[in-house]
Amino acid sequence: MNITHIYYDEIDSTNNEIKRQIKNNIAEGTVISAGCQTAGRGRSGHDWVSPKGVSVATSMVLYPNSVKMEHVPRLTLLAAVAVAKAIESLYDLKTEIKWPNDILVHKKKICGILTEMEAEKGAVKYVVVGIGVNVHNREFEKELSDKATSLDLAIEEEGRSSYTHCKDVTKEIWDEFAKVYESFLQTEDLTEILSFYNERLVNKNKEVRVLDPLGAYEAIAIEMLSTGELLVDKCGEKKKIDSGEVSVRGIYGYV
Ligand code: BTN
Repeated sequence: MNITHIYYDEIDSTNNEIKRQIKNNIAEGTVISAGCQTAGRGRSGHDWVSPKGVSVATSMVLYPNSVKMEHVPRLTLLAAVAVAKAIESLYDLKTEIKWPNDILVHKKKICGILTEMEAEKGAVKYVVVGIGVNVHNREFEKELSDKATSLDLAIEEEGRSSYTHCKDVTKEIWDEFAKVYESFLQTEDLTEILSFYNERLVNKNKEVRVLDPLGAYEAIAIEMLSTGELLVDKCGEKKKIDSGEVSVRGIYGYV
């Protein structure tokens, strides 16, 4: 994949800008990043705050036209692995993954991923993978203060110092993503990244609350499957949880 980087000091949302530029036929692998987002979007309709110059806000366009629509959510899991790999190689920090796609360092969220798809007549038209990483942030909104961290804060907590420019973090993430995406296109499953992912799965063997629209229940998380589903044990009964339909919460807080 050819990766082309476009950078704005400020934009409403890099996912929005990619969608606007798709109308100009931008190529697969085009990345739009911004020093600051004025209307950054998170999952489930939440806002995503990207203050000036301290975090990564970046989106890539993909045209995985041969990939089945129901397999597209797996791209978010690939992106999570790409971010974890980038953080580990640039910072030598241990990452954990809260299924499906929150990256944690020291049990606090450091990255969020928002994948959006457009389909036409049952086929994928385009996918936008948007990634936000807290890099130099030193403070967070009140409700996030005990749940979020940044790469700089995490490094300091370990008594080390290291400075990486947001642009270098962005480049490393997409270089890692390109590798896992190429192999995903061959198989459309997650076998290639499965052991890396499950070794970092923070929910593993933990009690989780499964927010199933048909009724929430508690279970023990076992592992992620090559389909991207989370396998859980509900009182001895194994169940597969699809990230598109349900979410899980830790019983005792964020994790
Ligand atoms: C989450 O809720 O955890 C997902 C957050 C995703 C934020 C990123 S920042 C770059 C891209 N542009 C957006 O508006 N959102 C995503």
